[in-house]
Amino acid sequence: MREREREIQTHYDIQMDRRAADVDEWNRSRKVMAYARDLRIAPSPLRNASYGTMIGLGGLCPSRVIDTRIIEIAPGARTSTHRHVHTAELFVLEGQGYTVVNGRKVSWSRWDALYIPTNAWHYTVNTGDRPARFVSIGDAPLFDLFNMDRVEDIGQTETPGPFYPETDLQRMAKSLEGQTQGEYERSIVEAADNERRLATGTLVTHYTDQTLLLNKKGTKSTFLVDITQGFHGTGLSMVMFHIAPGGWQSKHRHGGEAVLFAVKGKGYSVVDGERHDWSTGDATLVSKWSWHQHFNADPDEPAVIIRMHMWESQYKLMSFCMSPLPMYEEPDRLDGSDPALWERQEAKA
Ligand SMILES: [Fe+2]
Ligand SMILES: [Fe+2]
Repeated sequence: MREREREIQTHYDIQMDRRAADVDEWNRSRKVMAYARDLRIAPSPLRNASYGTMIGLGGLCPSRVIDTRIIEIAPGARTSTHRHVHTAELFVLEGQGYTVVNGRKVSWSRWDALYIPTNAWHYTVNTGDRPARFVSIGDAPLFDLFNMDRVEDIGQTETPGPFYPETDLQRMAKSLEGQTQGEYERSIVEAADNERRLATGTLVTHYTDQTLLLNKKGTKSTFLVDITQGFHGTGLSMVMFHIAPGGWQSKHRHGGEAVLFAVKGKGYSVVDGERHDWSTGDATLVSKWSWHQHFNADPDEPAVIIRMHMWESQYKLMSFCMSPLPMYEEPDRLDGSDPALWERQEAKA
């Protein structure tokens, strides 16, 4: 009897082993860098575009929250119309064209940022005479954890309606106006309001409209995708920051995942005391509770970086769940490079 008891695993044993194995597997597969030189970009005939995964499933560097791809669209080409549960944001590295999202058309060119909300039908057209190149960042890994992500593709057709406000949900919410509402009815009204916000939210930031401001971490920065600009969705965000020639960003640490993509320049990141060099086109994945700091190794030119994370959703949830544990830490005195480095840069220009 005693022998038998030893063989049987209780729910407690099973879940403890499983959790330890998950974390062990993640720590063993975890990497910091995805280098442009290792990336293979291959055509996807169905989508009518070419893809290479830097960070995420099947890519150069695994991740659990956000992924990062390079997408290329040939001159004059149009991608298939498709939709996915995950949100995507695209940073335009090169080219010009437009994207149609649920019937709304937005134009873009170099260094603009595009936003594709959850479940929105969309396609993209390259109107230029050179390939259009994007960095595409999505939250598919997070949705995969919930077994929720899915993709639908309807080829070279227009984005199919009905769109807001012509949906069943809007009609139902409208029919409830002026009536006594129970909890269920209130949930319908709230769902209809979320549908409205998803359908009318911001879809693009034009880089030429942005002003980079010197911040306390020693870099110059601006939001490209943020809730303050009217983007509404899963909390996936994007900031551009420039590091002064020979300068650096103040060090800090946080949980979750942050991706840093080097748009232009050369430098290095110190993550958990280890130096990782990068140059134009490389991506850095900062995960776990690692101290990290980013340096510009070029004495003459600023380094241009975009950074993406999900602070306003996944990380906010972690903060609620883990309070009072800190979710962000930095030195009492921020140790970014001297703002005078910027004055020298401006004087030189
Ligand atoms: Fe897409
Ligand atoms: Fe960070």
